[in-house]
Amino acid sequence: MTVVISVGGSIVSPDDVDREFLSAFCRTVRAFVADGGRRMILITGGGAPARRYQQAYRAVVEAPSHHALDTIGIAATRINATLLHAALSDVTAEPVVTEPDRITGFTGPVLVAGGWKPGFSTDFVAVTLAEACGARQVINLSNIDKVYSADPRKDPSAVPLDRVSWDDFRALVGSDWVPGANLPFDPVATRRAAELGLQVIAAGKDIANLENILAGRPFVGTTIGG
Ligand code: UTP
Repeated sequence: MTVVISVGGSIVSPDDVDREFLSAFCRTVRAFVADGGRRMILITGGGAPARRYQQAYRAVVEAPSHHALDTIGIAATRINATLLHAALSDVTAEPVVTEPDRITGFTGPVLVAGGWKPGFSTDFVAVTLAEACGARQVINLSNIDKVYSADPRKDPSAVPLDRVSWDDFRALVGSDWVPGANLPFDPVATRRAAELGLQVIAAGKDIANLENILAGRPFVGTTIGG
C-alpha cells in the first residue's frame, strides 16, 4: 500500500520552518512505514521562501514572467523537499525526485519529491506520482482545514464542505494556472486527478487528524471526487 501526501509549503515553512510540525510529521511517517509493506510518497510545496522570492523578483523587474516566477517557486519547493528528505534519511533510499515522469517505482519505504517544471504546482507532481505508483488517493495537507464552497476571503456566505465532486471543485478553482496561486488544489492537477478518477483528501496540518486519515478513522477535511 502506497500513500501519497502533498505537504503544503504553507505548513512546512509558513514563515520560517515550522520545526515542531516537521518533527511530529516525521514521527508519523516513520510509525506508518514501520509496519512492513506500507510506503509513502511525500511532496513538499514552496511556502514562505517561494512567496518571498517571487515577490522580490516581481519588485525588481518591470515585466515579471510566469516562467521565472514558477522557476523561483520550484527552487523553494526543492529546499523544503531537501530538508524533509534529510530529516527522513533513515527511511529513504532514493534522492529527492525532481522529474516525477521518470519514476516507475522506488525501493525505500519513503520517496520525497519537490517541484518539477513551470506551469503548475506541486499538486500536479502529487497526481503524477500517484498515477506512476498506482495510488488512488492523494492526501493534500495545507493551512486550511477544509475546502469552502467559495473563496471565504471574497464571499462571506462561503461554507466548509465535507465532500465535493470533481465537477463542482473544477468550477471553484477555474482552469487557468497562476504562479503562486493559493488554491486548495491547482487547476492543472485538478483536471488530471478528475480524468484519472483519483480521490483527494484536503486537510489541515493537525497531526492527530492526519493519523485519523491514515488509519481510516473519521477526520476533519474535504473529500474531493471518488
Ligand atoms: P506550490 O504552490 O506547490 O507550493 O509551489 P505552496 O504554494 O507552498 O503550496 P501550498 O499552497 O501551501 O500547498 C510553489 C510555486 O512553485 C512553482 C509555482 O509557481 C508554485 O506556485 N512550481 C511548483 C512550479 O512551477 N512547478 C512545480 O512543479 C512546482
